[in-house]
Amino acid sequence: MFYRILRPLLFRLDPERVHHATLQLLRLTGAAPAAPAILAAATRVQSRSVSAFGLAFKNPVGLAAGYDKDGLAWRGLAALGFGHIEIGTVTPRPQTGNSKPRVFRLVEDEAVINRLGFPGRGAEYVAGRLYGDRPKDLVLGVNIGKNKGTPNETAAEDYLALLARFAPLADYLAINISSPNTVGLRRLQARDALEGLLSEVRRARSSHPQVPILVKLAPDLSDGELEDSVGAIMDAGMDGIIATNTTVERDGLRSVYRAEAGGLSGAPLTQISLDITRRIVQLAGGKVPVIGVGGIMSAADARERLDAGAALVQVYTGLVYEGPGLVKRIAGGLQREF
Ligand code: FNR
Repeated sequence: MFYRILRPLLFRLDPERVHHATLQLLRLTGAAPAAPAILAAATRVQSRSVSAFGLAFKNPVGLAAGYDKDGLAWRGLAALGFGHIEIGTVTPRPQTGNSKPRVFRLVEDEAVINRLGFPGRGAEYVAGRLYGDRPKDLVLGVNIGKNKGTPNETAAEDYLALLARFAPLADYLAINISSPNTVGLRRLQARDALEGLLSEVRRARSSHPQVPILVKLAPDLSDGELEDSVGAIMDAGMDGIIATNTTVERDGLRSVYRAEAGGLSGAPLTQISLDITRRIVQLAGGKVPVIGVGGIMSAADARERLDAGAALVQVYTGLVYEGPGLVKRIAGGLQREF
C-alpha cells in the first residue's frame, strides 16, 4: 500500500540512483541496534521451510544476485523476510562496469534492462562485509564471476580464487557464467568450456567439501545447449542450478527503452524462465535442485515455479515493481497453498 504511493515518485528518478539510495537505507537499517529486529518482526510470516543442497531455508523466497553486489546491505535485506540472500556477482578485483546510463525501467512492460557489467569493489572488500554475527535463520550465498579483463581461457583462475576466498564465508556459492553484460562470458556455458571449468572447480572444492556449489544459467540456451550444460553440471557433481539470468530476447516489448542493450528481467521473462526451469527439472531427473528466478512478480508466479519443480525461488525486478512487501506476500501465500 505504502509502496503504491511511493513508486511514482521513485520512478521519476534515475534507476541506479534509486537503487543505491535504497541500499544505503537498508545498510543503515541493518546497522542500527534494534531496527533489524523490529523490521523482521513486522515482516515475519508463517511459511513453508525447505531443505535443499544440505541447507535449511526458513522459506522458499530468496533475493537474486545483483541487488547487493558488494554485500553492503544484506543485514537490512534479511529483515524484509528473505529465506536466503545471494550477494554478488563478486569479481576477484574491483572494476567499474560499463558507462552510465546502464539501467533502464521499462514501466509499460514491468521490466528492467541492465548492462551494468559487474561493477563492484572486488573480493577482498566483499569478504570483509561477511564476517560477524548473522541472523541464524538466513542462508547467505555468494555469486562469483570473472573480471572483464580475464580472458575465458584463464577464467578458471578467477573462479578458483573466489571459491577459495568465499567457501569459508558463504553458505553456498553460485557460479555465474550467464550474464550477458561481460563479453564472451556466456560462452563458458558451452559443453567443452563448462566441462573444463567445472572439472577445475571440482578439484578445488575438495579443500572445501562443505560448501554447496550451484551454477547459474541463461534463459537463451537452445534445447541442445541446455541439455549439454545440465549434463556437464551433473557430471561435475555440482549441487544445484539457478535458472535463470536475464535474457537478450526482446519480443513483445512496448517501452521506448526496448532497444537498449543488456539483459532484460521482469514480467517478459516469466514464461521463458518457467519453461527453462521445467526443462532443467526434467533433464536432471529431479537429482539436482533448481532455484527458479526470472519474472516472479507475484505469489502466483512463485507457486507456478515451485509447481514446475523448483525447490526455491528468487526475486529482483518484482521488488522494483511491487515493493518490499512482495517477499512476505510470496512467503505467506505459499504457506497457505501447501
Ligand atoms: C541482475 N542479475 C544478476 N545476476 C547475476 O547472476 N549477477 C549479477 O550481478 C546480476 N546483476 C543484476 C543487476 C540488475 C539491475 C538486474 C535487474 C538483474 C540477474 C538477476 O539475478 C535475475 O537472474 C534476473 O534479473 C531475473 O530475475 P527477475 O529480475 O526477473 O526477478
